[in-house]
Amino acid sequence: MDINVNIEGLDLEQSEIEALRPEAAAALDKLWSGEMDMTGWVKAPIEQDEEELKYLLDVADIVRLEAELMVVLGIGGSYMGAKAAIEALPKQEHGIEVKFLGINFCTDYYREIIEDVKRKNTILCVISKSGNTMEIQAALEVLRPIMEQKYGSKEEAAKRIIAVTDEKSGRLREEVNEMGYTNFPVPGNIGGRYSMMTPAGLLPIAVSGIDVRELLRGAAAAATSPLWDTTGTDYAIGRYIMHEKKGKAVDVTCFNHSRLAYFGEWMKQLFGESEGKEGKGLWPATLQFSTDLHSMGQFLQEGSRIFLETMLIIDGCQDEIVIPAGTFKGMTIEEMNDIMVEGVIKAHRSAGNPLIEIHVPELTPYYFGQLVYFMETSCAITGILMGVNPFDQPGVEQYKAEMRKLCGLDGK
Ligand code: PA5
Repeated sequence: MDINVNIEGLDLEQSEIEALRPEAAAALDKLWSGEMDMTGWVKAPIEQDEEELKYLLDVADIVRLEAELMVVLGIGGSYMGAKAAIEALPKQEHGIEVKFLGINFCTDYYREIIEDVKRKNTILCVISKSGNTMEIQAALEVLRPIMEQKYGSKEEAAKRIIAVTDEKSGRLREEVNEMGYTNFPVPGNIGGRYSMMTPAGLLPIAVSGIDVRELLRGAAAAATSPLWDTTGTDYAIGRYIMHEKKGKAVDVTCFNHSRLAYFGEWMKQLFGESEGKEGKGLWPATLQFSTDLHSMGQFLQEGSRIFLETMLIIDGCQDEIVIPAGTFKGMTIEEMNDIMVEGVIKAHRSAGNPLIEIHVPELTPYYFGQLVYFMETSCAITGILMGVNPFDQPGVEQYKAEMRKLCGLDGK
């Protein structure tokens, strides 16, 4: 694994960390042994079926040839991963635009997407593991008739709808069977927020022009890294100690790269939905540096002492902008970025904030794949150490049930 974690800024005794290594190793064993439900994502990058991947890439090629726009209908784990990757990573020339619907009930947002669908040659990609999520049902019920009108018939519209859902159950699966949509399964043993390396993430990512094979290669490299026997678990152990023993309530991850804003949203879902149960968990927050140093930086420096800070630092940038004249003449913007990070670490450490540094060599599909897998595994380990099930979301299900009742769909 090329991602590097430094937890010296937590000021822990080495013995405190070492004491937790056996428990972290046991948690990792649980994940790999398959004894825990919903751990299919653990081996997914190394057990990727070449034929299935080839089919997915072929479908993505056809979409790119035939359409200008893919609208993904998905929410939570059924869109976050794709959006995070698409916003973060460089695209190859043949990628097309990917937009997302079903992520809210905002009429103005709906209107924009509807206008796009009317104007542009569009493919819909409906992603719902359960196949029953109301946001997605509603979005499809709005866009399906628009597609039918635009392309002339139900059959022509159906040729332009792709579904990613459970192999057997759910309303969406029933519709797939009825309408014959091109479709991909979300494996039964992989939950939404851990599904970026399944068709739920990979199809839109491939359509956008990102090199999916590189992404998977990175995730596989992280999965098989020998570091998990030693320092690979530092982040999980450090977060656990901050939560359990040092009274920290919020883990604020700070990025020095502007394209990671949506990756931050993905992290919030991953950690929030996995850990936040049974009265436990660190509230995951994110900040963009240096932008937020001029606002929330004040709070981190002098406000309530509830924070663990995680600096997620992209170390390198292939492009270079040299400042041609003036005070900073000869310096590159990247050098200023490095100096900013160093200054922040000094200032926030002097304020007593415990701080973890995570270094990623560069923002490429390969390292992004590593980062995703690293975060998923670390999050699952911390959840297990905290004594919660990192793979369920009873609180989310509760809201879904209440909303179904209010829509008069109780039990349907
Ligand atoms: O992580 C999860 O399981 C959730 O966030 C789901 O992804 C989200 O609720 C959407 O569910 P579904 O894919 O069943 O429509």
